[in-house]
Amino acid sequence: MQDPIPESNYMINSLTNRREELFPGKIIEHKQEENKFYFSSANEVTLLVQVLTSRIIRFRYSPDGYFPPDFSYAIDPDFKPEPPKVEFTQKPDSFQLTTELVVCIIQKEGLQIKILDKSGNVINEDEKGYHWEYDLQTGNNTVKMSKWVQSGEHYYGLGDKSCNMNLRGRRLQNWGSDTYGYSRNSDPLYKSIPFYFGLHQKTAYGIFFDNTFRTYFDFAHERSNLTSFWAHGEEMNYYFFYGPGLTEVAEQYALLTGRSAMPPLWALGYQQCKWSYYPESTFKGIAREFRERQIPCDALYLDIDYMDGFRCFTWNKEYFPDPKRMISELAADGFKTVVIIDPGIKIDKNYRVYQEGFQNGYFCRRGDGPYMKGSVWPGLCHFPDYTHPVVREWWADLFEELITVDGVRGVWNDMNEPAVFEQGTFPDDVRFDYDGNPCSHRKAHNIYGMQMARATYMGVKKFCYPNRPLVITRSAFSGTQRFSSTWTGDNVASWDHLWMANIQCQRLSISGMSFVGSDIGGFIETPTGELYIRWLQLGIFHPFCRTHSSGDHGDQEPWSFGPEYTLLAKKFIELRYRLLPYIYTTFWQYVTFGTPMLRPLTFMAQDDTETYHRMAEFGLGDNFLICPITQAEVDGRWLYLPHGTWYYFWDNTIYIGGKEVWAQAPLDRIPFFIRAGSVVPFYPLMQYVGEKEITELTLNLYYTEGSFTSTLYDDGGDGYAYEKGIFTERKFIVTGTQVSLTVSQEIKGAFEPTYTTYKIILHGLPFGPETIRIDGEPLLLDTVVDPELDFEPESQNEKFPVIYVRRDFKTLNIQGIASDPMLPEPEMA
Ligand code: GLC
Repeated sequence: MQDPIPESNYMINSLTNRREELFPGKIIEHKQEENKFYFSSANEVTLLVQVLTSRIIRFRYSPDGYFPPDFSYAIDPDFKPEPPKVEFTQKPDSFQLTTELVVCIIQKEGLQIKILDKSGNVINEDEKGYHWEYDLQTGNNTVKMSKWVQSGEHYYGLGDKSCNMNLRGRRLQNWGSDTYGYSRNSDPLYKSIPFYFGLHQKTAYGIFFDNTFRTYFDFAHERSNLTSFWAHGEEMNYYFFYGPGLTEVAEQYALLTGRSAMPPLWALGYQQCKWSYYPESTFKGIAREFRERQIPCDALYLDIDYMDGFRCFTWNKEYFPDPKRMISELAADGFKTVVIIDPGIKIDKNYRVYQEGFQNGYFCRRGDGPYMKGSVWPGLCHFPDYTHPVVREWWADLFEELITVDGVRGVWNDMNEPAVFEQGTFPDDVRFDYDGNPCSHRKAHNIYGMQMARATYMGVKKFCYPNRPLVITRSAFSGTQRFSSTWTGDNVASWDHLWMANIQCQRLSISGMSFVGSDIGGFIETPTGELYIRWLQLGIFHPFCRTHSSGDHGDQEPWSFGPEYTLLAKKFIELRYRLLPYIYTTFWQYVTFGTPMLRPLTFMAQDDTETYHRMAEFGLGDNFLICPITQAEVDGRWLYLPHGTWYYFWDNTIYIGGKEVWAQAPLDRIPFFIRAGSVVPFYPLMQYVGEKEITELTLNLYYTEGSFTSTLYDDGGDGYAYEKGIFTERKFIVTGTQVSLTVSQEIKGAFEPTYTTYKIILHGLPFGPETIRIDGEPLLLDTVVDPELDFEPESQNEKFPVIYVRRDFKTLNIQGIASDPMLPEPEMA
């Protein structure tokens, strides 16, 4: 039989199932309702262009002029922007919508879109644009979009993909999958985040394809001049974000899909997990080791074996006879207990959760009626339909006893892709309520994990009150950041996986999910001491910092690799605790502005095309640059430093960025640079958050010539007062010349921290201080051998000038005599 498909067809998933492509005709009608513009074609296609803000535009297409109710799990219900000013004009061939920042042109013939900036540069342009195929087998449309690749265009984003950071040349898909021991380039993985960034001519935009079916993205892979995305169902419904900065695009996306709340500060501490710690004596033994060895730790995890036969919300009373007592004893020693909860509910007539779910119809049903059955850890299970609001309420309430009676402080959701043994996931015919928009698994699959995390969050938040909740999820869709943190799933103890952990966490961070980490050391198999330390060095710079490993492969605690590695593990976990106020401030920026916490090099310097293919280096917050060592037996690495002046954390060597530098990093260092001009707050060393009342906060000030501003956020680290404005935002404006340094502090907010003094340690002063004035009054300078910063035995005796000042000072001024007329010579390797 002759293939009826024209040559020009692409976005092909299966050659045998290709269908004829259908296209919109000419626009014959249009109308405007406030910021919504409808364009209807001769063959009944309708395009709805909704201008949400001056830089966010939504494009929604209907092949038959009918739009089903507008419903999305991804969009933040609190996103209700004021409609922006839009100018509408018509030309013979096109319509034009103009906002403050962009111009959107809609072709009358074929409905292709072109978006330009105000200077007339093309930002994004359709090729065929919207078109579709009708799929006889499923009765759905495959909805498609194709766009021209702009000259020199690069692509980033898409969540947890384990491939290179720059996506140009790749085809990827979203279908949340349980991918035990995945590898580089495995696709799809656990999460579905159909959001990408385009960058060309140093200008960035983003596209979020809000479609929960299996989605595909082709970035100049099938055809080098085209980028396309498509889905096996539902609508072509996407949002365009204008930057021009990559970070601005990420912030726009976070505005639309929502932001996380502030976590409890302890959740940014070090966490220890294993599949599984049991019985109680083993679990408490782990806690004891941490405290005896004085290795800081805040949270300990119970994996599936704490349950009775893997029944969620039960305890194995043989292993854990008195969970409440055990958890409170651990809590008295500063440990928070986090437990795993999976979606599979064991089919067992004597099990309360099963009975309630069964009797009330809370489980997902097959297309023909019976409850869906699938095998996971407990054996055959039913699975709650978390897309039903009543089921979410029920699920949330199931946490009451675990939290209010037993004292659990956080919940870890796993296997929620949803994963089913042997079959992989649910069959396609399984039905979901989808919040009153009934559908099959084809549509609900990718948001199942997100809705589970949402229901869990509702419960943990409710019962932990007035404390803040911690939820961790393996599966996610766009918007999951509103409910949960995440990790990168079942990785392997290998150098390649350490490389991937770095890329995946950065990529998740720019895709809306900054509260992210990997299983430190690798989940499958056992790392060598060296690999464990290299991984931990990276992990302490990830917002979610947890060692986790599978029980069948040896021990993986910080002390499992021999004394010299134990010391190193302790040193890096201690550093994490010292950095907590900086990491917390970075979290607050993420919560407040949607700014990714982990920032790929290109996001730090998108004007520098050198960064476009580099991916190992990344920023944490405004002032850190980190680059992990992902190779065995090396004592340093080359890396690219973005422009600006940087201090090497370990020895204060000054580097000028905008080029490759060699960072000396034997096993007791990770390449870690601090931006000149920054003020980096350090907590005193603590074994867990809240161990000590902090009376003095250390501020490490890194001298710069010129001016630079750093921020410090504080709200006490738990509770909800911050939502009512009880927090402080402190800005330190550092201005340096060859013979002076001025620090001004601007304080906003009503929170009173416990510390009353700052200990300011001055790094890199190019002059000898002569007079010091604090708010006009003279002050004495001291020097410290800084045992806190200085991990290098050989430089133990180096002295740093230090000043003790009252917390709420306004201006600190240091005048000096130039000891060296020049800036310290940048040390180059
Ligand atoms: C899954 C999780 C892993 C967990 C295990 C047992 O493989 O990804 O983290 O330890 O299940 O619950």
